[in-house]
Amino acid sequence: MVTVTIRVKFASEQRDRSYQILIRDGILEDLPLERFPLQNASSFFVLTDSNVARLYGAQLRAALSESKRRVELVSFPAGEQNKKAETAWHVASKLSKLGADRSSMIVALGGGVVGDLAGFVSSIYKRGIDYLQLPTTLLAQVDSSIGGKTGVNTSWGKNQLGTFHQPRGVLIDPRTLQTLPREEIINGLAEIIKCSIIADREMFDRISRLDKFDSAIPNELIVDACKIKAEVVSKDEVENNLRAILNFGHTVGHAIESASNYRLSHGKSVILGMIAESWIGLQLGILQRADFEEQSDLLQRVLRQFSVKTAFLNKRTLFRFVMADKKGAPSSIKMCLPSRLGAMYVNSEGSYKIPVSKEIFEASIDHLREVLASPR
Ligand SMILES: NC(=O)c1ccc[n+]([C@@H]2O[C@H](COP(=O)([O-])OP(=O)(O)OC[C@H]3O[C@@H](n4cnc5c(N)ncnc54)[C@H](O)[C@@H]3O)[C@@H](O)[C@H]2O)c1
Repeated sequence: MVTVTIRVKFASEQRDRSYQILIRDGILEDLPLERFPLQNASSFFVLTDSNVARLYGAQLRAALSESKRRVELVSFPAGEQNKKAETAWHVASKLSKLGADRSSMIVALGGGVVGDLAGFVSSIYKRGIDYLQLPTTLLAQVDSSIGGKTGVNTSWGKNQLGTFHQPRGVLIDPRTLQTLPREEIINGLAEIIKCSIIADREMFDRISRLDKFDSAIPNELIVDACKIKAEVVSKDEVENNLRAILNFGHTVGHAIESASNYRLSHGKSVILGMIAESWIGLQLGILQRADFEEQSDLLQRVLRQFSVKTAFLNKRTLFRFVMADKKGAPSSIKMCLPSRLGAMYVNSEGSYKIPVSKEIFEASIDHLREVLASPR
């Protein structure tokens, strides 16, 4: 496959923080480093987790060594539970011991946990150094590696310590998905479907024509999702308004994920969230029934392939979690909803965030229960 270049532009600043996203099978073995502004990078520090280190650590080390710079690998135990300040501290002290300086380049090799943690460490180590993203899960390739949100979880919530720190580039090797467990695929697939619903009808049709959803997801869908995320982030880096459309399905989805105590995966929760939120759009007269039905059919087909049967759908618990969602003012729920397949609703004041009553929210959970109980 040819290399695809996407420019993420942040025009309003003195320093140009644009970067490219390069997508090619095998890019991990043959890094086009000349495409990135790395002239001043004195050394590379690969941050990764224990699983990815074993699978791709040596390969990446060899490829980076071609640049004749020093390459070090620092890994931490895999898992969301390790995306925490203590790990960031441990990684930073390791960097210091190994002599990483202000001109060292961090390379985040792994899924969203590695990317978020490595980005966070890069943003604070010696008051901020450069980093590259080399995402190896579908979720990280189509979502978390792009846009510069970094962070760690805390005892008072997910991603509660974090920064905006854009990488200097993103290199995506879809071949790494061949080793990714199938259960991880749905996390990225949910974001790909979300991108099509919020921005690209034709992409949605292509996804609908797939008959199975596994690691053989067409590369062109990864490219399309990256383009959509890059375009949205370029227009609204710090989520003043437009970037919130990327949260479609996530208000209800996060509540379900939290209510399940993270036993239901992010992807499955977001797919349920998209079904519920598009149903809310239908009730509010924002979304046409035909578009709602099409969305719902695809989302339910994906749920069946990943055997989702129970979903922790207690209305009161979910309402409690949704009120804690960061987009809502203390007394109201706000969501971004599609107006049709491929476009999001924007109100007369230009806001994408729509108030939703407690009654409609709770009715959407009843709708989800019916969906899961139905045999089709
Ligand atoms: N920064 C953002 O904008 C953003 C957006 C969405 C999600 N996130 C964050 O992303 C995180 C979730 O990321 P994730 O779903 O990638 O999970 P993850 O990073 O935990 O990876 C999932 C599992 O897959 C393993 N793995 C990674 N690549 C592999 C490969 N190629 N082959 C085999 N195994 C592999 C990992 O070791 C891990 O066990 C969450 O912490 C979430 O908050 C961030």
